[in-house]
Amino acid sequence: MTRRSTPPPALARPLLQRLQAGDVVHHLHPFTDPAELRKHPPRVIVRGQGVRIEDAEGREILDAMSGLWCVNLGYGRADLVEAATRQMLQLPYYNTFFHTTTEPAAELADELVRIAPPGMQAVFFTESGSSANDTMVRMVRRYWELQGQPGRQVLIARRNAYHGSTLGAASLGGMSEMHAQGGLPLPDFSHVEQPHRLLLGTPGESDAAFALRAAGWLEQRIAELGAERVAAFVMEPVQGAGGVIVPPPGYGREIQRICRRHGVLLVSDEVICGFGRLGEWFGCGHPRIDFEPDLITFAKGVTSGYLPLGGVLVGARVAEALAGQGEEFAHGFTYSGHPVCCAVALANLRALQREGVLQRVRDSAAPYLRRRFAELQQHPLAGDAEGLGMTAALVLWRDKARREAFPPEAQAGRRCREACFDCGVVMRAVGQRMVIAPPLVCSQADIDEIVRRIGLALERTLQGLRRDGWLH
Ligand SMILES: Cc1ncc(COP(=O)(O)O)c(C=O)c1O
Repeated sequence: MTRRSTPPPALARPLLQRLQAGDVVHHLHPFTDPAELRKHPPRVIVRGQGVRIEDAEGREILDAMSGLWCVNLGYGRADLVEAATRQMLQLPYYNTFFHTTTEPAAELADELVRIAPPGMQAVFFTESGSSANDTMVRMVRRYWELQGQPGRQVLIARRNAYHGSTLGAASLGGMSEMHAQGGLPLPDFSHVEQPHRLLLGTPGESDAAFALRAAGWLEQRIAELGAERVAAFVMEPVQGAGGVIVPPPGYGREIQRICRRHGVLLVSDEVICGFGRLGEWFGCGHPRIDFEPDLITFAKGVTSGYLPLGGVLVGARVAEALAGQGEEFAHGFTYSGHPVCCAVALANLRALQREGVLQRVRDSAAPYLRRRFAELQQHPLAGDAEGLGMTAALVLWRDKARREAFPPEAQAGRRCREACFDCGVVMRAVGQRMVIAPPLVCSQADIDEIVRRIGLALERTLQGLRRDGWLH
């Protein structure tokens, strides 16, 4: 299903230099220090095919991050491009306000409800994961107003969670460096600790005991706030941007029990984990995660990142309450249900089904990735490999045996990320955790090559750290 046109030559050096010079001055990049960008101009990525991208200098790079956790089907899919082109020619835009809809939006809503966990009834479309989470916040607060419990305003999420960058989503997220800027979080957001075994487990504690203790932090917080103030608890099945933090088995079930017990809505942020990343349509359905949410937020992989689309899947309890009031939900975006984005999402979901991608992730790609990735721990810098589905993380240790971390000034993560690029593989640094989330369509040979290049990058990182005096 992939098509490769004749590649144009990599950018001529004068053009590349002009692009970079303009970019560092006129383009403010997300989560990037502009001063650093001026010192080290950005790589210009010119094309992608399958699991590989190519930069302007003609270097081929394995994209083990699927862009930003989103290019689930890989690059160069003619079927997605054709779906977009057909819809562009037929109807490039119409809105879904004021009693109108479009064919792709209506069909996609049906399809999403069909593949969603039981109990999901309706979809509200947005343009991104951030706007999906903002929509969800407004929706659950509205739900409680309609239930005659307007005091239930607080949303609880977890420290180190990433739920997006808009005011609401950044408040909901638990990233302290985001809260440090611009007076966040907004009121009525609360955060509990993440189920991070490596940081918060105690020696000798079983997985099951840690799962109960970690879920108990939510119950404790509900008690402190008073259940009558708590609207919802929001969690990612696996915390992605937080560093691929996989909860222990039993955590999801216990969280669900606590939410039900206190009447609190349970929301699964599936922006990363949805659409096959964990080998299931939604990560909450993975046997290790295992909880039944009242609402789901999604984005990214719904279109394999080819066009921006997000949304909220709404369970019957909330959907019926919103529908039963004879009053509009005063919320929406110009591009809610954009027909071209929805057409691409439909083509993407059909390809995932037709090609048995989820099954393949479950049966072969994910177990193979897990096994091969674990071998990287033979390197003296790398330890504590973990992951689920097509995600994986390892920790860079200064002294693995004594579990001694590098001081932040050593910039071990950043060095490793750069070394990865230089060795032809994209890996992301989250502090000293190095993470990957490769396209779901990786072959075993692709996984072998990803692991081989990461191995080279670890060695290069080690040499640099040694040269600069950061090793004992
Ligand atoms: C779990 C999660 N939620 C929400 C978002 C925000 O999505 P977007 O960048 O599309 O606004 C992200 C982005 O990485 C995410 O990982």
